[in-house]
This record gives sequence, structure tokens and C-alpha cells, in this order.
Amino acid sequence: MNPNSIVSIDELSKEDLLSILRDAAFFEAHPNHKILDGMVVATLFFEPSTRTRLSFETAVNRLGGRVIGFSDANTSSSSKGESLKDTIKMVSNYVDLIIMRHFKDGAAEYARTVTETPIINAGDGSNQHPSQTMLDLYSIQKTQGTLNDLTITMVGDLKYGRTVHSLLQAMRFFNPTFRFVSCPELAMPQKYIDFCEREGIKYEIHTELSPEVINSTDILYMTRVQRERFPSIEEYNRVKDCYSLNRAMLDGARENLRVLHPLPRLNEINEDVDDSPKAYYFDQARNGLFARQAMICRVLGIDVDALRRQFDNK
Ligand code: CP
Repeated sequence: MNPNSIVSIDELSKEDLLSILRDAAFFEAHPNHKILDGMVVATLFFEPSTRTRLSFETAVNRLGGRVIGFSDANTSSSSKGESLKDTIKMVSNYVDLIIMRHFKDGAAEYARTVTETPIINAGDGSNQHPSQTMLDLYSIQKTQGTLNDLTITMVGDLKYGRTVHSLLQAMRFFNPTFRFVSCPELAMPQKYIDFCEREGIKYEIHTELSPEVINSTDILYMTRVQRERFPSIEEYNRVKDCYSLNRAMLDGARENLRVLHPLPRLNEINEDVDDSPKAYYFDQARNGLFARQAMICRVLGIDVDALRRQFDNK
């Protein structure tokens, strides 16, 4: 087991989070370096991805490393029945870092127990998505000027959405107020409600995305209903169109409100929002590159401060 792995966001202290955010800002200003020269990183995606895989791979490339891996597990020997344990042990023979997405909750936690190679969890089932959370925090900090004392409204699939689970946990250091807006079938799981209670985090539960809720929100975090996690298509069809945000709904919103979404979106954000100054989801995805560069350096023990000093002294 490698102690530098990042499997769950709640393993990171407040100082860890702030340090990654500082490094992300550095990489946004200075994206290209040769600090991974000679290193190889594996991206093992047992579940589809556009942003996470491509931004991680871009991050490695911009840092001068090389990438191997698969974006479709059907092209790997797991399609012949090879176990996750054996796959991880094999890939560990070849690389310096494994970035893995898997459809099973807990898969990343299991993976780190069978290897000394560091692991970054790129999403495991409906459980955790720590790199998404780092780019979400970076986006919140950039747009609000702070992470502290914000009202964050999470909308949509709060049951299966791993991004809201990770974000909720990371925000515990910053005195947030949460609004959980969902239909009852997709409510925030009890364990995260218990987490809020334990941590003294303020929260409200709503079923309607009302003007009162929108107009007193700083971050409106929309999510897709996660079709792939439903036991049946009938159950998915019953709830898939619960919420749809359009531009007119933002008319009375605070000046600083920004709409975030981990993407991909379906119809929970109407395209007429895209041109609004409050829409931030495409910039948010771009921020993923910098946040992931920072995470890769952290996991590989690369001192970004030393790099920063080189630039400061120029
Ligand atoms: N936000 C996110 O995880 O997107 P992808 O599924 O495209 O990686």
C-alpha cells in the first residue's frame, strides 16, 4: 500500500486541500514542465469518461510523462475474467502511478491494498470522485474569491452522484450551508446526512428548485441523473426529468452565483444557460487539468514549491 495514494477526499486535511489548490493555480499560470520525464502513468478506465481521463492524460503529457492504459475494459484481459487484483499487480510492474476509474464502490480502496504503486481514484461507483472535488474547489475559490461561508445548492441525483458526496465531505473545513434539492427517490444518502450532523454542517432538504432557493445560493451545483446506476430503466424513467434549469430561472439570482456541473449534462441544464455569465461548467472542466496536474505531483512526491521558486527567481 502506498501512503501517497488518493482514494477518498476525506483522507486529505484542510492544509492538503489548500496546498493542492495553490499548486493548481501555479499550473494554470505555468502548465508545461518536464518534471515527469522518464515516468509512465497508467490510466485504467473500467467505466466511460471524457473529461477525467483526457484531462489526467493531458496533465501527464504537459508534465513530460508518458501514458499507457485503456479507456474500454473490453480491450483488456479483464474481459477474459482477469481479476482486479491481478490487473493492478500486472500494471504496477510497468508504471509509476495508476489512475483508475471503476464501476464498483470501493474498487480504488481495494486496488491500493494490493500494490505499492500509488493510486488516484478517478471515480468508483457512486462512492467518491476526489479529483472532481479538487477541480470543484478550485472553481469555487476562483469564482467566489473564497471557500468560506458559502451556500451551496446541490440539485438532482444526490443518491448516486459521487461528485456531490466527495464535495460535501471536502467542504467540512469551510463552514458551508448546503441545500439538497432532489426528488425523494434520489435523496442524499443517510450516511452523508449523518456526516453533516457529526461535523456541524448546516443543511436543508428541498424537493423544489424554487426561486427562494436559487436566489439565496452562491454555488448552484447541478447533476445528471445517473442512469447507469439504476436497478431498472423504469425506475430511471420515473425520475430522469425531475429538474431542468433554464436561463429565466436565474433572473433573480445573486450576482456572484455560478452554475457548476461535473458534466456530462443531459437536460438538467437547458442550453440557453450556456451563454449566461453565471454558467461556469465548461470553465470548471478546464480547471480539471490544473487540479489534476497538482494531484499527480502530490502523489508522486514532486515538490511544486521548488518549481514555483524557480519561476519567482526569474
Ligand atoms: N465529470 C466527470 O467525471 O466526467 P467524465 O465522466 O467525462 O470523466
